[in-house]
Amino acid sequence: GRTHYYDFVLKEATFTRLCTTKTMLTVNGSFPGPTIQVHRGDKVYVNVHNQGNYGVTIHWHGVKQPRNPWSDGPENITQCPIKPGTNFTHEVILSDEEGTLWWHAHSDWSRATVHGAFIILPAVGTIYPFPTPFAQQTIVIASWYKGDLKTIIDEALAVGRAPNLSNAHTINGQPGDLYPCSKESTYRLLVEQGKTYLLRIINAVMNEEQFFGIANHKLTVVGQDGAYIKPVTTDYIMITPGQTMDVLVTTNQSPNYYYMASSPFIDSIVAGDNTTTTAILQYKGNYSRPSNISFPNLPSVADEAATANFTNQIKSLVSKSHPINVPKNITQHLYIAIAINQIPCPENETCQGPNGNIIAASLNNVSFESPKIDILQAYYRSLSGVFDRDFPSFPPNFYNFTGNMTGISAFTATGTKVKMLNYGDAVEIVFQGTNMGAAENHPMHLHGYSFYVVGTGSGNFNNKTDPKSYNLIDPPLVNTVGVPKNGWTAIRFIANNPGVWFIHCHLERHASWGMDTVLIVKNGKTKATSIRSPPAHMPSCS
Ligand code: C2O
Ligand code: CU
Repeated sequence: GRTHYYDFVLKEATFTRLCTTKTMLTVNGSFPGPTIQVHRGDKVYVNVHNQGNYGVTIHWHGVKQPRNPWSDGPENITQCPIKPGTNFTHEVILSDEEGTLWWHAHSDWSRATVHGAFIILPAVGTIYPFPTPFAQQTIVIASWYKGDLKTIIDEALAVGRAPNLSNAHTINGQPGDLYPCSKESTYRLLVEQGKTYLLRIINAVMNEEQFFGIANHKLTVVGQDGAYIKPVTTDYIMITPGQTMDVLVTTNQSPNYYYMASSPFIDSIVAGDNTTTTAILQYKGNYSRPSNISFPNLPSVADEAATANFTNQIKSLVSKSHPINVPKNITQHLYIAIAINQIPCPENETCQGPNGNIIAASLNNVSFESPKIDILQAYYRSLSGVFDRDFPSFPPNFYNFTGNMTGISAFTATGTKVKMLNYGDAVEIVFQGTNMGAAENHPMHLHGYSFYVVGTGSGNFNNKTDPKSYNLIDPPLVNTVGVPKNGWTAIRFIANNPGVWFIHCHLERHASWGMDTVLIVKNGKTKATSIRSPPAHMPSCS
């Protein structure tokens, strides 16, 4: 593969949306940020210069970084923040990813404004497993906050823990026609009639899953999370925060304007930003803008069935040039219950969470506490007192996860607990959604790996009967999976990438409330199966 060099300058820039102007942190002054485009197996050096006002880190979402957790990016997990006035060069190492991924800030809520596409074309001399599209276009769906993100995150983490809803969703940086002061700048994709376009769709939204569709046009989904799937033709997609999808659209309609729209899927009892962002698919030609532009038919905001119907159709492509390898003999079983809980309000404080407590979130009843120095450094240099190795493999068995919660304590333990895995372990993780706090979907994301989604279902996971229905033939290979509300999802992977790998809900609110943990995959027996030595200048933690 080739080597590419990028410079990312983190700096404040001024933007006007929804009738108000603010300055916000950007990469190179743009929103969304710059696109990285490479071929499969290439290597990328990104020199991140922080000219902003606070420490930030950058993560390459879905890039596996074999043996190289040093450049992965999550703050206080694999590195300390890049301080203002300093820089850090990431060595971003690809392996078999192909399709669309993305990059984003991985500290505080900075990713709201600091994110962009990471496109991986087929290796030079190889082709797509579908007819070569006429052109490609990145579609980044994101969140817009009128306020300052630093203030909003402080509020989200303060004792009150308000919901901190965004004020708009955006497509390629623009809210679209349905929002005030936005019509002039709605994003338009100019197309020729009778061609096939490849849309690379990224859900960079902070807290809401999204339905997306284009009026009068079918979507054919051919890839997800940097891997190909069997083509699925559909009127809408459901894309959860963190996910990416490669979608073919054929411009087979009469020359006109057509709305594309993205509207949230939110569980009814949970507060979310329930507003719709639009952009325009505009055919080239000699005609005038219609007074009524047709709008796609999207499922309604709490349509769980529509979500499941779409998601259950996704299967790995599986071909000679895109084979898969699903682990069969599992050596490490983890069963992880996901919950929204509470922690007691500190004395002499007033907390606005339920019953005057603080809202927290947990995995196996441990709400993750971010350490002061990064876990990777502490592990590599054997520093004690930074993390504990006793993340439980099974939830405490004191409640019926998807049953009645009355009388069950809402409180969770807290700590910086990691799960140790041996190199080469065949791992199965069953994520169990619960009714604790609020039943809702959780987009669970693992760094350093893609994993096979072998099963999903409603209610409590049954380890006798549910594995019988696993798909071990063509399960999707992804880095983020939506665990259904009141249900479970089973994933499998081989732990063949040694390192320190974050695993968390990609709803930013949940992640910052503690819905996170870390997998440490130990070194194998050889140098080629061990963590590389660190680069000369990691950002300092002092
Ligand atoms: Cu997209 Cu841990 O991140
Ligand atoms: Cu969540």
